[in-house]
Amino acid sequence: TEGADQAMYNILVSDPVSEKGLAPLVGDDNLNVTMENAANAGDLSQYDALIVRSQTTVDAALLEQLTNVKIIARAGVGTDNIDVDKATEQGIVVVNAPDGNTISTAEHTFAMLMAASRNIPQANASIKNEEWNRKAFQGRELRHKTLGIVGFGRIGAELSKRAKAFEMDLLVYDPFLTKARAEKLGVESVELDEVLKQADYITVHTPLTKDTQGLLGMENIGKTKPGVFLLNCARGGIVDEEALKHYLDNEHISGAALDVFEEEPVTNTELACHPNVIATPHIAASTQEAQMNVAVQVAEEVRNFLNGQPALNS
Ligand code: MLT
Repeated sequence: TEGADQAMYNILVSDPVSEKGLAPLVGDDNLNVTMENAANAGDLSQYDALIVRSQTTVDAALLEQLTNVKIIARAGVGTDNIDVDKATEQGIVVVNAPDGNTISTAEHTFAMLMAASRNIPQANASIKNEEWNRKAFQGRELRHKTLGIVGFGRIGAELSKRAKAFEMDLLVYDPFLTKARAEKLGVESVELDEVLKQADYITVHTPLTKDTQGLLGMENIGKTKPGVFLLNCARGGIVDEEALKHYLDNEHISGAALDVFEEEPVTNTELACHPNVIATPHIAASTQEAQMNVAVQVAEEVRNFLNGQPALNS
């Protein structure tokens, strides 16, 4: 038959990814999709493509078994769970879904900012404990407070629009931000030290790289205003947890909102359970819309790539 000489490709989806979003793969007769954790997916040399979120660690040991994989797609933005250098050495293309969860992540960060400034998680816990404690939860308005955004890519830019609607003042640090883009988006681009010195709230929106690991650590947090509030809805480790704990304990920092941790699931319970920390379990991108978007993006990318087209988001 006509299809007989067409290659069949096996695709392994080793983390929970929206099945509906994977429709472009399921609808292609030449593609076989297996949804299974890599550890239980049998001989890994049978697969031509791998789709992951953040749970699967694609390290050298796993890559060695992926002898026929041609493309690894991350249904999300950060590829820090993938050894990209080793994959590239093996001739594997690594792609991500760069914008499918931008809005969800910006909204979650803003939700954290609002929840923290009005003590909503703490007040909610108190009332559920059958207390009526109006005095304990006096908050702060966001209007006219300075929000420092470290990393001004897609998420940082969306966040800035929301902060402006709340009449916040913005200071942005991003070494890759051009003057033209800063002007277009109506933000002031400054040096990191300026953000550290002036911001009332500092939020990070960079990838985790050698340069951003511990970017907010002992020294840089030490330069911030007393009472500053830190947010990390990007990647665990950009804000150094030990330094954060130190400055929370000595009350230099008034609080922190964290969606991500150096180790996940979180093991640093001292930090997650700190009274001035509000925390969520890496759910900034966990919305119906974002999960659908990223699944469709990687499914189309994998299908097109296996059908001989170049990868768009490598
Ligand atoms: C991402 O990098 O896209 C987010 O951390 C979300 C996720 O892990 O799915």
